[in-house]
Amino acid sequence: MNLFKSTVGRKILMAATGLCLVGFISVHLIGNLSVFAGPDGINAYAEHLHALGPLVWVFRLIMLGLFAVHITFGVQLYLENRAATPDSYAVQKTLVTTFSAKTMVFTGLIILAFLLYHLLHFTVQITNPDISAHNIALDAAMRPDVFTMVTASFHNAFIVIVYIVAMIALTLHIFHGLSSWVQTLGWSTGTSQDKVTFIGKLVAIGYGLAYIAIPLLLLARIVK
Ligand code: HEM
Repeated sequence: MNLFKSTVGRKILMAATGLCLVGFISVHLIGNLSVFAGPDGINAYAEHLHALGPLVWVFRLIMLGLFAVHITFGVQLYLENRAATPDSYAVQKTLVTTFSAKTMVFTGLIILAFLLYHLLHFTVQITNPDISAHNIALDAAMRPDVFTMVTASFHNAFIVIVYIVAMIALTLHIFHGLSSWVQTLGWSTGTSQDKVTFIGKLVAIGYGLAYIAIPLLLLARIVK
């Protein structure tokens, strides 16, 4: 089977790259939650990340490759599916029933748009130069003040709404992704598959709530 050409092969690649990306958002979530520990939490975390030096760029290239494969095949399979004959579309319709499954390509594109904005916001720091770390003094321990950049950003209701919409799209996307990968990889095993599907859905909801809590609690000044 040619992984890059056959439909099954491309679906397997999508599931595998999707799982790696979920690995990334898991680690990223833990890092982001350290904002609740104050500057000593997230600034120390960011400092350790940046101290990895060239490894950061290796990691970025791997991420870029994962995103490129996942998005390219996702859009390709969606377009092929749409262009398929009415008969096979009818079959597809009976198999794919949930809202999160039907909207995968749209939630995926919302996440992509968010990601571009997010990188310009926090990594390149050009969307809000007034509140970005490059323009803010180092913290008391001489670390880039990521805490102030994040908290000041989420004191802006518009930015918070953008993040919340994107996090809802992310939740829907991984809600389906985390409940379908076992089947896609051909590891369906009856009741244990049901358990993995159930846990996948719980994880998706948990990640969604945790990611949404960050901008929301900062906006509400519950965490300052
Ligand atoms: C509340 C939600 C989020 C917050 C507060 C947040 C925060 C941040 C911060 C502060 C950085 C810059 C880190 C630094 O350079 O020190 C960053 C980078 C990044 N974030 Fe997020 N993030 C959030 C959600 C997401 C999501 C959902 C994704 C993926 C879908 C994501 C993907 C990335 C990527 C790819 C980077 C660049 C990492 C690098 O520089 O190599 N983020 N984020």
